[in-house]
Amino acid sequence: MRKKLVICALALFCFVQLKAGDQTPIRIVTNETELTLSVAPDGRLYQSYFGKRLLNESDLVHLSGSDKNAPDRRWEVYPGSGAEDYFDPALAITHNDGNMTTILSYVSSEVKKTDGGNVTETVIYLKDKVYPVDVTLHYITYAKENVIKAWSEIKHHEKKPVNIWRYASNMLYFENAAYYLTEFSGDWAEEVRASVQELQFGKKIIDTKLGSRAAMLASPFFEVGLDGIPCEHEGNVLMGTLGWTGNFQFTFEVDNNGHLRIISGINPYASDYELKPDELFVTPEFIFTLSDAGIGKASRNIHDWAREYQLKDGKGDRFTLLNNWEATYFSFDEKKLEELMKEAKKLGVDLFLLDDGWFANKYPRANDHTGLGDWEVTKDKLPNGIPHLVKSAKEAGVKFGIWIEPEMVNPKSELFEKHPEWVIRLPNRETYYFRNQLVLDLSNPKVQDYVFGVVDKIMTENPELAYFKWDCNSPITNIYSPYLKEKQNQLYIDHVRGIYNVFERVKNKYPTIPMMLCSGGGARCDYEALKYFTEFWCSDNTDPVERLYIQWGFSQFFPTKSMSAHVTSWNKTTSIKFRTDVAMMCKLGFDIILKEMNEKELAYCQSAVANYNRLKKVILDGDFYRLVSPYESNHTAVMHVAKDQSKAVLYAYDINPRYGERLLPVKLQGLDASKNYQVKEINLMPGDASRLKSNGKTYSGDYLMKIGLNVFTTTQTSSRILEITQQ
Ligand code: DGJ
Repeated sequence: MRKKLVICALALFCFVQLKAGDQTPIRIVTNETELTLSVAPDGRLYQSYFGKRLLNESDLVHLSGSDKNAPDRRWEVYPGSGAEDYFDPALAITHNDGNMTTILSYVSSEVKKTDGGNVTETVIYLKDKVYPVDVTLHYITYAKENVIKAWSEIKHHEKKPVNIWRYASNMLYFENAAYYLTEFSGDWAEEVRASVQELQFGKKIIDTKLGSRAAMLASPFFEVGLDGIPCEHEGNVLMGTLGWTGNFQFTFEVDNNGHLRIISGINPYASDYELKPDELFVTPEFIFTLSDAGIGKASRNIHDWAREYQLKDGKGDRFTLLNNWEATYFSFDEKKLEELMKEAKKLGVDLFLLDDGWFANKYPRANDHTGLGDWEVTKDKLPNGIPHLVKSAKEAGVKFGIWIEPEMVNPKSELFEKHPEWVIRLPNRETYYFRNQLVLDLSNPKVQDYVFGVVDKIMTENPELAYFKWDCNSPITNIYSPYLKEKQNQLYIDHVRGIYNVFERVKNKYPTIPMMLCSGGGARCDYEALKYFTEFWCSDNTDPVERLYIQWGFSQFFPTKSMSAHVTSWNKTTSIKFRTDVAMMCKLGFDIILKEMNEKELAYCQSAVANYNRLKKVILDGDFYRLVSPYESNHTAVMHVAKDQSKAVLYAYDINPRYGERLLPVKLQGLDASKNYQVKEINLMPGDASRLKSNGKTYSGDYLMKIGLNVFTTTQTSSRILEITQQ
């Protein structure tokens, strides 16, 4: 066998060397960005350039792997462990003979174009010369949106399974004077707190080990300022995010030469994977964009790409809704819900969403200690079942949606009694509970069937059901899968794959139903899950002041259309107008007791919903500009601009202004400088007149963008929304 391997390897070596000598660089390009890969005389694949798109084809010769003058960078695109590079590898395998080295040589590549040429997929085939290991690198470029998606696939034909213990999706290299990393850390109700640090020699890792979700504590996205601190409106910046609803890892390593390497992929923590011969190991998608005009532009690239290509129903409409969670928590009955449905109608929203607390009979879901797993309606509470509620909503003139958390189980449930072997928990240690619940073992196909069945049953019995909120309140605790037995090290990965299997089945069978992804707030915020969900819940923290920061953070990577924001009673000291104006910049909903509002407040909310509906196209599908950062000012302002620049919506918030503070005008962005625009303040409290001097006036786009508007005040937690219409 050994001899055979060597002969094969020699044959392959000659073949690769021949091809490698001829190889012109592989160009992975969008309209603005270029990643150039070259095969060197040693037959291996190197990154020769990553930056602004090169203009002259003739310059490529200088980057060719066979050009003697080509910069000697030794930046291997997908380095295996055990080679001459002394930094973290992209791939590491323990082969059948115990050898831990893998060195990949270029074999061939191919290019496919779709979507009228906007989307290009480059597939690169690599092989180890000594061990029968194949790696395929995938790059999909979105030309107009300037976004690149990259992932890898690993396969081998050794006699027995191999152990893979590093399996990056992608690796990128940079050669700049300095690197500044913005990360988004947090916790429950404190999502996406941005902080910046300079990357110096050595390693910085951002990762999570939560199992059933990507985020909480750290977020699956980052920004790197190349040469300077990442800024909103200027500078070179890389933005990257991983589509993986589980443990992720980004490694930023500055080497001895001051070069930065970024490795993105699944977190290999406790996850050595036993790969069988011919089994394909597909890594998650790493999505990235480069901008030469700051984070704002990079965000808009990603928003456009997400709406066009990734987000479920990215181009479709979104429902406004009234949710009962904060209005009732677990305590409601049919009558109460029917009243709320009528209130939803009165408010003018599209849908009533029934949250947690509607299910389980032996251990009714009266609080968060019981019932998860038993997805039968609680008969005492809702004697006529869900079909009756769907009907009542219809009679009230709104659609009906429902909350589920089908991946979880309370130990006090019939499901747990019947199937303790379906639950992730340790057989030989005391169980640790996160929110009194446990995670079902989605690595088990039977459990996948069960979870799919939860949705399928509700939909089959209620074909007119119009919306799901899918929650996931616990990370994986007590990491032990009864199903995987001695292969516990595969649980983190197989569990997430199991989740996708369920999501995929749901999407295939119910392709059009809108779904909100929730994870005890915003802990599920990754682009793989969002293929299956139309929106996600950003945070349980709906204090409008906190939300301004949270929405600022998430909007860096996600279009506001995908960010659910509800008006609630958190921080009631702020006005209903302020709370609503904050939620209005995202996907608007309410989670509030309408009866507690006075007439004026209710009338205000009704008119806000009407304005939102009128401006939905701009708010949901326009370009988003972050104008004034709450991190850098006592105020904040953002705006949406319609794609044809005919309409814009400007949101201005005073958070914590100082007495006598000098107020600066806000310079707008994204308008047509040569056109005139009329400015009109909307979302005013009934009876209030606008105090803005600009209200009702017409300005040129040029004026609005160079001189700006005075929209801030020194009143704490106050806000203004302006409709800006081309004349
Ligand atoms: C956590 C979510 O974030 C809340 O919005 C709510 O749905 C509760 N779960 C229900 O238990």
